Amino acid sequence: MICMKNLVILISGGGSNMAAILKAAQTQRWVDTLGAQVAAVISNRPDAKGLELAKAQGVATAVVNHLSYPSRDAFDQALMDSIDTHNPVLVVLAGFMRILTPGFVSHYDGRLVNIHPSLLPAFTGLHTHQRALDAACKFAGATVHRVTAELDHGPILEQAVVPVLPDDDADDLAARVLTQEHLIYPRAIAKLLRGAV
Ligand code: GAR
Repeated sequence: MICMKNLVILISGGGSNMAAILKAAQTQRWVDTLGAQVAAVISNRPDAKGLELAKAQGVATAVVNHLSYPSRDAFDQALMDSIDTHNPVLVVLAGFMRILTPGFVSHYDGRLVNIHPSLLPAFTGLHTHQRALDAACKFAGATVHRVTAELDHGPILEQAVVPVLPDDDADDLAARVLTQEHLIYPRAIAKLLRGAV
């Protein structure tokens, strides 16, 4: 029996990056070419739109609602329990809007990746697009990186750059960056699965 490499994707909202990864997995036939599959999509929000998208594609879904746990540690432990039922080689944060405990990060050491909507190390944290506009940046972008204990840090795997146009508001810029996120995240994951990074 061939042992499949499982991916678990964590989301909190719309799940467009998750959808791009699922699409790449399907069109590039990751099961055959990389021996890999998206085993599950897990959300901390029961109303995350991405859950429906995942279900519609036949992917297992789960909710670990952070509001149901008394502490960050208790939530992260429940999340780890849910993730580990799939024994993943990679845990993919795709718009997962929770700060993770050091215990969680070290449990997935070498297996945890994130996408952030800025050209890291610039603009860690929230409101990246408005902050890029406020700083009069001429370029913005997105970064796929390995996750370390420090928020939005860790070795960079892929980046994409977009221009900031004169009349952009934060939504315009976010939309332009998001189209690039959908290209670089599946690419970075496929590279990791090939062992090329
Ligand atoms: C994406 O822009 C992603 O980079 C960002 O949230 C959005 C999720 O969109 N992530 C972060 O800000 C994490 N710090 P999606 O749910 O449509 O993929």
